[in-house]
Amino acid sequence: MSVPDPALAVLILGGTTEGYALAAALADRPGMRVVSSLAGRTANPRHPAGELRVGGFGGPDALAEWLRRERIGAVIDATHPFASRMGWNAAAACAAAAIPLLRLERPAWQPGPGDRWQEVPDWAEAASRVGATARHVLLALGRQELAPFAGLDHVRFLIRSVDPPDPMPPFAQAELLLARGPFTEADEVALLQGRGIDTIVCKNSGGTATDAKLAAARRLGVRVIMRQRPPRPDLHTVATVAAAFEWVEEVAESGKRL
Ligand SMILES: NC(=O)c1ccc[n+]([C@@H]2O[C@H](COP(=O)([O-])OP(=O)(O)OC[C@H]3O[C@@H](n4cnc5c(N)ncnc54)[C@H](OP(=O)(O)O)[C@@H]3O)[C@@H](O)[C@H]2O)c1
Repeated sequence: MSVPDPALAVLILGGTTEGYALAAALADRPGMRVVSSLAGRTANPRHPAGELRVGGFGGPDALAEWLRRERIGAVIDATHPFASRMGWNAAAACAAAAIPLLRLERPAWQPGPGDRWQEVPDWAEAASRVGATARHVLLALGRQELAPFAGLDHVRFLIRSVDPPDPMPPFAQAELLLARGPFTEADEVALLQGRGIDTIVCKNSGGTATDAKLAAARRLGVRVIMRQRPPRPDLHTVATVAAAFEWVEEVAESGKRL
């Protein structure tokens, strides 16, 4: 099935593996204008296929104005499951500008037999549980999300992060481990066992790049304090890049074109 002329202009709100993959798939389609948008949190982000714009839009009204000006015909919110503000902004802007919007979101991880998960709504609750019972904790979360744990002086932390926290919150006992996934289950078992980790704190990002720690925790009986995903607008949602691609083709055929 080919995308008919004239072209459809598509905005992908990205910053995720799925966003990059969708841009690559759509940029190959004839007559398709593909613009990816990144928040600008990473210093030297990989350039997605097609066009790239970087930085916030300035809220939902400004985003709606940008969509009209750029004559965007479809928006795919492929932002990370925890980037919820952008999701709400996109929903408001697309409703205001009458532009079809799709949410592309990898499914959340689910606990299975043998898992010792405690699901929490925010980092304050996670820190409270850590403070009450944990001794040696693997913090596998964003480098800007560490502060709620820094006051727990009696707990030892192993902080795993892609980039160093800047500034580093004032932990009494913390070691920094700079590493980028994907990790294997064997590596994670070795890490947890080698360091005597009794608790992992992480967020329910989903996907396969960082889920080996959960399998390792299951195998070793290590507790996982899992932050639940924040609420997002109730949108048509797909879990795969292929399904998002199909949706764009349907929009193109329905006449929402430049
Ligand atoms: N949060 C995470 O754990 C995580 C993990 C991996 C990747 N990311 C990626 O990093 C980005 C920022 O995450 P966040 O949690 O800070 O998001 P957020 O809290 O939902 O968004 C905060 C603000 O950043 C701007 N923004 C966010 N995503 C944008 C995008 N794709 N293009 C242009 N502006 C964007 C928007 O500014 P304006 O209101 O000014 O438009 C938004 O209001 C997201 O694109 C996300 O996909 C986040």
